[in-house]
Amino acid sequence: MAGCGDKGGTDKATKANEAAAAMTIGFSQIGSESGWRAAETKLAKLEAEKRGINLKVSDAQQQQANQIKAIRSFIAQGVDAILLAPVISSGWDEVLGEAKAANIPVVLLDRQIDTADPSLYLSAVTSDTVEEGRVAGRWLVEKLAGRDCRVVEIQGTIGASLVANRKKGFEEGISSAGNVQIVRTQSGEFTRAKGKEVMEGFIKAEAPGSICAVYAHNDDMMIGAIQAMKEAGLKPGSEILAVSIDAVPDIFKAMADGDANATVELTPDMASRAYDLLAAYNKDGTVPPKWVQTPSTLYLPDTAAAEYERRKDLY
Ligand code: AHR
Repeated sequence: MAGCGDKGGTDKATKANEAAAAMTIGFSQIGSESGWRAAETKLAKLEAEKRGINLKVSDAQQQQANQIKAIRSFIAQGVDAILLAPVISSGWDEVLGEAKAANIPVVLLDRQIDTADPSLYLSAVTSDTVEEGRVAGRWLVEKLAGRDCRVVEIQGTIGASLVANRKKGFEEGISSAGNVQIVRTQSGEFTRAKGKEVMEGFIKAEAPGSICAVYAHNDDMMIGAIQAMKEAGLKPGSEILAVSIDAVPDIFKAMADGDANATVELTPDMASRAYDLLAAYNKDGTVPPKWVQTPSTLYLPDTAAAEYERRKDLY
């Protein structure tokens, strides 16, 4: 019986892969602002190659206008499907309506959009971005064990769905502790350079010794903030707690070195999930779930050295 089941499963997988193999997919990517995003692009290409998918990647350099142009070009080329990592959440209805009119399914990757018409996209592969913030906030409360704490927050790109959500989740995570409060918030645009600059500003603006923790919406901005803290003679990881999101190799290195305390994983392997559901949809019209949720796992320094080794070549 088990043998029969396996064979059925294998045949099904083979057929789905064949359906995927015939596909040409356009991927409108945001850019390469972070190590995480570069890894997402790399894995999208690797997985496409493995499956024989013809993947066309367009780098939008952080501009929604470039993403809209790329989508229109994919439609004109008659691609079989479009992957979209939307830089901001609003303003997609018109162009996605054009894709829909051309019968081209669209799968959102890593960020959601605001629309009154969910039929404009087939599915979204993302994490629960509110939960990511909650996980980070709860970790901080537990770590503090009742101590007072003034937190500074470095946000990602304003207007992106996940930025409001990561903020909201973190606020929920710390809400059980009346002694933990966010005292400053600013966007570091998800980049290392901007994260450093924002942290330098926070250090100048706050009284010496008064910042107790940094919450950064991604690891790259935290790496920049760590540099700023060190240059100011502060000790990130001990004197100032550091929690962020993504789980890229460099944050594991920082944790192993004692400079950071926690990260919440966002898998960069988004595209393979999209390829799977598009293959099934292409083959026999199987309608995927509207939201394919990826996990949000907390990582701490105890496994940091091993995690760094495991991930360093993936990125
Ligand atoms: O949308 C995912 C976010 O975008 C990642 O957390 C960040 O690193 C990236 O730039």
